[in-house]
Amino acid sequence: MVTEILPVNGQSLLKAKKIIEGGGAVAFPTETVYGLGANALDGNAVDKIFEIKGRPNDNPLIVHVHKDFDIESLVYDIPDYAKKLAKRFLPGPLTMVYKSRMTVASAVSCGLDTLAIRVPSHPDAQKFLKFLNLPIAAPSANVSKHVSPVTAEHVFSDLNGKIPLILDGGKCSCGIESTVLDCTGEIPVVLRSGLVSREMIEQTVGACGEYAYKQGAPARSPGMKYKHYSPTCRTSLYFEDEADKAVAEYLSETGKGNRAYILCDDKTAQKLNVGNILNLGSSPEQMAANLYAELREGEKTADIIIAVAPNDDSGVMRGVLNRLTKACRGQ
Ligand code: TXA
Ligand code: MG
Repeated sequence: MVTEILPVNGQSLLKAKKIIEGGGAVAFPTETVYGLGANALDGNAVDKIFEIKGRPNDNPLIVHVHKDFDIESLVYDIPDYAKKLAKRFLPGPLTMVYKSRMTVASAVSCGLDTLAIRVPSHPDAQKFLKFLNLPIAAPSANVSKHVSPVTAEHVFSDLNGKIPLILDGGKCSCGIESTVLDCTGEIPVVLRSGLVSREMIEQTVGACGEYAYKQGAPARSPGMKYKHYSPTCRTSLYFEDEADKAVAEYLSETGKGNRAYILCDDKTAQKLNVGNILNLGSSPEQMAANLYAELREGEKTADIIIAVAPNDDSGVMRGVLNRLTKACRGQ
């Protein structure tokens, strides 16, 4: 199969519509990462997404809709706090989990009685979703467990030959996946941290919980139990206060003739005296925007990426830290 990369316009949207209505999958940009979309009402199309990615079939998908879509046709029991949050943060990088009306194919939620819904803010995502006017099931458009794609080229390098079309909307501005929020209980509970932080949710509706996955226990958000976001080279991880150990490992690796990179924020980069640095920038938002792009850049030539993570895990940094630790340490 030939994989085309096209900018979003009338012609490419028509192509996308034909593919999706025919039961196929199309990659499209969002403000977080690129998604691999298929018609959520078509069980065979949804199965295809799992197959293309090599995704375990107990890790449910998010349904994407345009901003005027009637989500009450898909879910019910939307609590008042969720309405408030939707008003403040949508369209945007916040996915909300509700009780499902079971109108989409059961494969989307892998048999769960809940459904995750996302209204992306990227203008090209809105155009795509509006043009199709269908609920679109979409995971990130990478091969399962690899680093999520933030450019059309990243999608191409993972899925070339496996899908017919990638809609190119430039580099994703957020850079890490959306916050996933369980809205089925008394208070909202963060299942996956992201650019809409727990603190921001708390400020808006007063209370917000956070789900901590424990190894071995049944997972409330099944995706939590899998290794994720990993580059193809070896990795290791240190925290800021043990940066000297990271430098020691870097020197030991380069001494053996290996190509090593240190991945860190700008402040740490200024302090360390090493040659190969993947600089994530300064603010948590900058670090989120650069993380996957730098991991993918590094893995092209590195034998090992040695990450130095900030000790701060509040606000948006929590999402960055979560992805960084999963990428460089597994669980
Ligand atoms: O930013 C994003 O969310 C991107 C873009 C493409 O929209 N999508 C994305 O999808 O990251 P994916 O499939 O890589 O991650 C979906 C996450 C998983 O952790 C999954 O377990 C969780 O959402 N999820 C999906 N449906 C759920 C449900 N009904 N209950 C709990 N968690 C759910
Ligand atoms: Mg993913």
